[in-house]
Amino acid sequence: MAKLIFADTGEEQELEDGSPIAEQCEEAGVPFACTEGICGTCVIEIAEGMENLSEFTQEEEDFLGELDNERLGCQCKIKSGSVKIIF
Ligand code: FES
Repeated sequence: MAKLIFADTGEEQELEDGSPIAEQCEEAGVPFACTEGICGTCVIEIAEGMENLSEFTQEEEDFLGELDNERLGCQCKIKSGSVKIIF
């Protein structure tokens, strides 16, 4: 099992390795709109565990430009381990 940790609240959610993280992010309060990587509503910051997320999608590269610690919640999957999110 993999784990998402929401830094603001300390809330933790477990999910299967390889799962998209959108549902858990939405439950934690991250806003979503298009869910297709176009609008940028779901931008989140990764405080820890970026290496545990899937590679940047083309949509993320197009929207985020500089690829550092920001991701689009609707686009990434967690590979395994834990990821700490700030939003
Ligand atoms: S919800 Fe639009 S980019 Fe993620």
